[in-house]
Amino acid sequence: MSAFLAPEQAALKAKAREVAQDTVRARAAEVDRTEEYPWDHLETFKDAGFLGMTIPEAYGGQSKTWLDAVVVIEEMAKCCSIAGRIAVETNMGAVSAIMAYGSEEQKKMAADMVLAGDKPAICITEPEAGSDASGMTTRADKRGNQYVLNGKKHWITGGGVSRLHLIFAKVFDEQGNFEGVGGFLAIRDETEGLEIVKREPTMGLRGIPEAEIEFNDMQLPPSALVMPPRGLKKGFADLMTAYNSQRVGAGTVALGIMEGAYELAKDWTEEREQFGRPINEFQGVQWNLADMSIRIAAAQALIYKAAESGRDGFPDMVMAAQAKIYTSENAIQVVNEALQLFGARGYSRNLPLERMARDVRMFTIGGGTAEVLRNVVASGLLQKKLPQTRDGYSKLAARAAE
Ligand code: FAD
Ligand code: COA
Repeated sequence: MSAFLAPEQAALKAKAREVAQDTVRARAAEVDRTEEYPWDHLETFKDAGFLGMTIPEAYGGQSKTWLDAVVVIEEMAKCCSIAGRIAVETNMGAVSAIMAYGSEEQKKMAADMVLAGDKPAICITEPEAGSDASGMTTRADKRGNQYVLNGKKHWITGGGVSRLHLIFAKVFDEQGNFEGVGGFLAIRDETEGLEIVKREPTMGLRGIPEAEIEFNDMQLPPSALVMPPRGLKKGFADLMTAYNSQRVGAGTVALGIMEGAYELAKDWTEEREQFGRPINEFQGVQWNLADMSIRIAAAQALIYKAAESGRDGFPDMVMAAQAKIYTSENAIQVVNEALQLFGARGYSRNLPLERMARDVRMFTIGGGTAEVLRNVVASGLLQKKLPQTRDGYSKLAARAAE
């Protein structure tokens, strides 16, 4: 057990491991094959107390820390990446932004929905605005006592199964002046104008739909706007601050997948014999296992540290990015090496390695690509804005001269 964990966290991790191994693991291959959202896991999570753990007790949650959530996500992802992702999105990301910045009414609504089994969707990416999330064109125009939203979001995890949506949109006042980025709450099947357009056929992580969503003159009252603490001008920065929790969560899923693959491979090297002896008697295999274990230990330390950096708020931007980059890149490598240790069997759909290899490939992309997160790390380290647009530096210089 990790030296980083308090006894209660170690106990929570052991409980999560038991639930994952007893209930979740048996369904993982089927969830991948059928591409059906595992609604039963939501019930399992509810019974085990894994839904909305980070929601404050005052709203029916357990006021758990990010690290508490991380150990549950890690154990789930060892057995099933989808269960891990559900544990992320019912404890981090959209729900935590709402719990931190929302009105009383919004917090109660989000807590009730999550605790009842809804995995909220966070809608940032657009077809023409991925890494360049600030380039979003989804807009919310104030018209009388309503906001009218128009735009399109893409690659939204849970599109079509999630009910609660947190939608990032550029806000304009009655005169058409840009006010900043806001997060709007809408509920699928209740909010008119929210339309699930299509589901992406994904390489892995097939048990949760990735969907394109359109907003066509979607009318929302001002009470649907999650007002960031520093106002709309700093809305984007504040929403991204909350999003750092989800980056830690995504990194944790990658961590769990690589640990799961490593555990399988380690056992297999004892069982499999070639040349009359277990393959773990070959030094090449021993060093391979040693290197895998080092990558895992380093990744786990970075994830736990990033989670703990958010003790009094959200995880630190740089630490969350460092942890996600390192874990996602090394997870791909470890899962590949684990698959290799199984020889031909690793390439068969009878074993989970090929599924893990497909699933783990996502984590250097979703939640901010490894490349863009390197920009985030560098910007934090250098304490400098590092604009990526052609005219970014001249705009900065002009602003400084004002
Ligand atoms: P692009 O931005 O087009 O990038 C293409 C390539 O260019 C990448 O390699 C990128 O690293 C590189 N690149 C771009 N800009 C730079 C730069 N400045 N410096 C160096 N390299 C650069 N989004 C949501 O809003 N909600 C979700 O729930 C969600 N879930 C997702 C689930 C999955 C399975 C996936 C795959 C994606 C999900 N996304 C979600 C979208 C995800 O966040 C974006 O895919 C990601 O931010 C990258 O955007 P893009 O795909 O448009 O790639
Ligand atoms: N945590 C805290 N603050 C953040 C942040 C983060 N992760 N990312 C950006 N910010 C803040 C910046 O500090 C800046 O604040 P300031 O205006 O007070 O200086 C503000 O948000 C704008 O950030 P900046 O880096 O100047 O924005 P940009 O227009 O160059 O956009 C991003 C770059 C943020 C879009 C890019 O770095 C990024 O994260 N892309 C990936 C998007 C993503 O993760 N999508 C996942 C969808 S699921």
